[in-house]
Amino acid sequence: MSLEAIRFDRNARSLNILDQLLLPYATEYIPINTIADAHNVIKKMQVRGAPAIAIVGILSILVELDHYVDGKFKDQSFYDLGDFANFQNQLIQRLEYLVTSRPTAVNLSNAVNEVIELIKSTKAKSIDELYPEIFKYGCDLIDDDYTNNVKLGDHGKDWIIKHLENEGFNGKFSVLTICNTGSLATSGYGTALGVVRSLWNHAKSFTTSNEESNQEPATKKSKPSGAHFSKVYTLETRPYNQGARLTAYELVYEQIPSTLITDSMVTYLISSLAKNPDSPPIKACVVGADRIVKNGDTANKIGTYQLALICKQFGIKFLVAAPKTTIDLKTPHGDQIIVEQRPSNELQNVSGGVIDIQTNEVVKDSKGHAISGKVGVAAPGIEVWNPSFDVTPHDLIDGIVTEDGVITKKDGEFDLEALFV
Ligand code: MRU
Repeated sequence: MSLEAIRFDRNARSLNILDQLLLPYATEYIPINTIADAHNVIKKMQVRGAPAIAIVGILSILVELDHYVDGKFKDQSFYDLGDFANFQNQLIQRLEYLVTSRPTAVNLSNAVNEVIELIKSTKAKSIDELYPEIFKYGCDLIDDDYTNNVKLGDHGKDWIIKHLENEGFNGKFSVLTICNTGSLATSGYGTALGVVRSLWNHAKSFTTSNEESNQEPATKKSKPSGAHFSKVYTLETRPYNQGARLTAYELVYEQIPSTLITDSMVTYLISSLAKNPDSPPIKACVVGADRIVKNGDTANKIGTYQLALICKQFGIKFLVAAPKTTIDLKTPHGDQIIVEQRPSNELQNVSGGVIDIQTNEVVKDSKGHAISGKVGVAAPGIEVWNPSFDVTPHDLIDGIVTEDGVITKKDGEFDLEALFV
């Protein structure tokens, strides 16, 4: 079973999210009962990743309204339960507040805008009648996200393999990725990490075919050749270390061949592998996205832009993998994206499991729970600049991988509108 960032019980209508600040040393789920709870866990980054944020945000509406349906709502002060029109306006206000939790990822605001449209245009005359409509929207959001991730993972895999084979490359290759874009950032499977997962599944079957070809001559099948995945190098992703904490955790859990590097090692890694004929070279870089605007400029985790520049220098294909829910056609150019600034202490301090210096193991309390702690790593008083994302210009992006396929540029420009006709 893949890792579960979001636990939504459709019968009990309960929502719990995995506290990603405690990973990889402790696995604890936090109950979400209200829209305010969702705002809080999104802002604190206990749940993170553009699709996961949207799903938790939308499901929080359901659990909040479910308290009304259950009659547990009587002490609340934010809804006028006696007047449905007032209730609709108040719910819309709460959704507008939810979107302020994190500004850069567009999936949440895209989904919230659709729910607001649903609330405005509904024929429902009561909360009881409106509830099933929002319930269906939330369930479809999770289900579609999963299905679309699998599709885009396979499209990205096919594109990379085909591209390499057209170039005449037939051996093992490695890929790069940054941040976390796997099951923990989505409803499951993942976006960029979904492409990696599909590449790994392809490589596993390739290995099996090769093994079969070692049979006795009478039964020997023709030996397949072709480009296939060897391993993924995952960047640590400073300052919040989503690569080291989350991607690495997921890759180990899924047993996908992988190596962790710091963000500053990429250039040396690529050039070292290129000089060593025994090491599968880096042939592609796949990243996720928080917002892809109309011209293809892409906001993603800080460090993505410099990764794209390095790939350009080495002629490595650079792909952005995201569902269509991450596309923002209303914003024409990347300069118009609001990039979230995070608190300075996220850069000045490193947090994680406390490690015993003798054993190198995480220290546990008397109940066996991992103890977490914070270590200061910056000079007190230093000014800090801590943007959570950067914006990669579309000219550095070779392809945008969605559930509909891989879009490439014609005459240097992406036509993302074509995805929505
Ligand atoms: O700040 P985070 O951890 O929410 O940032 C996440 C990323 O930048 C991801 O790469 C992006 O959201 C894609 S998630 C499938």
